[in-house]
Amino acid sequence: MNRVLVMNGGGDAPGLNAVIRAIVKRAQLAKNWQVLGSIQAFNGILREPMEIVELDEKAVAGIHYRGGTILETTNKGGPFNWPVKNNDGTWGSVDRSDDLINRLKYLNIDAVINLGGDGSQRISHALYKKGLNIIGVPKTIDNDLSATDSTFGFQTAIQIATESVDKLVTTAASHNRVFILEVMGRDAGWIALNAAVAGGAEICLIPEIPYDINKVLSAIEARFHKDRGFAIIVVAEGARPIDGNQHTISEIEVGSAHVRLGGVAGKLSQDLKDAGCRYGIRETVLGHIQRGGVPIAYDRVLASQFGVKAFEMVLEQKFGRMVSYRHPRIIDVSLEEAIAEPNLVTLDTALMKTARGLGISFGD
Ligand code: F6P
Repeated sequence: MNRVLVMNGGGDAPGLNAVIRAIVKRAQLAKNWQVLGSIQAFNGILREPMEIVELDEKAVAGIHYRGGTILETTNKGGPFNWPVKNNDGTWGSVDRSDDLINRLKYLNIDAVINLGGDGSQRISHALYKKGLNIIGVPKTIDNDLSATDSTFGFQTAIQIATESVDKLVTTAASHNRVFILEVMGRDAGWIALNAAVAGGAEICLIPEIPYDINKVLSAIEARFHKDRGFAIIVVAEGARPIDGNQHTISEIEVGSAHVRLGGVAGKLSQDLKDAGCRYGIRETVLGHIQRGGVPIAYDRVLASQFGVKAFEMVLEQKFGRMVSYRHPRIIDVSLEEAIAEPNLVTLDTALMKTARGLGISFGD
């Protein structure tokens, strides 16, 4: 019996369960394959006792439309940066990658499928270089991986953000107010840009284009006539003013690679008032609602395609590679290529041109 181990790391994304189910379904057709799952990314292997579950037909039945992940996930720790408490109470980290590889050998694991974003695929690549038979599946609701046209969860997030804009429009118009909707997007403004276009927002602020508060104010003024009117601003959590930094909520947590972003909507609201905005402003922070719940059909389809392809790559021994969607095909790319460049919104992005053509202001 051959064994493949599946895991997911980083933030969850709607569609993860559909990938897991597709891997198991495809493995069943191959015969002589057992699928195991590691709980909370690599932590399930590195913990004492290990936390590994068998993924058989029963375990994955009906999970394709469930949000989250049955394997749980984490964006902390990992084999190369395992957090340890020092004697003085501070935290440090140790490299447990050799330990991980030994444990996988002990478990007779023939191949690993790692579902994750940029950070997770960096770990996949480093483990591959150490000789592990590993395959990556891209996962990011921010759509910030350039080696694939799209990732599951992204369209669900856009749908949720757009429905939120729709709801804010009716109350904004009723009260003649400015509404600021803060959406996810650490370095890439794709969710904000898509939701702004789909929802008909007037202003869209993204990490890639630092904004000038006076230009944002002018765009608001253009929407009001004699104090009547309304304006919707969609702002990505990673957006920043031309003379400032990204807004953070807290320090880096132990084992985490990033500071927690958040609060840009509140900051923008205050800055607009300070700059002389005369209209009522309200802020809504969408937060993890964008990542939760049922994946839309598009994401379930893409996730199923990714899962089937990932297992077929195991059969073909295409290790050190990541599943990728390049319309109209599902292909594979090297992990090296997968982590080389982030997928950011650029000024010549087609959708950016559309947004400008619709008169959306980016505060630049
Ligand atoms: O990477 C996806 C993402 O949604 C980012 O946009 C956001 O900054 C981050 O996850 C938040 O993750 P968490 O709060 O789960 O650490």
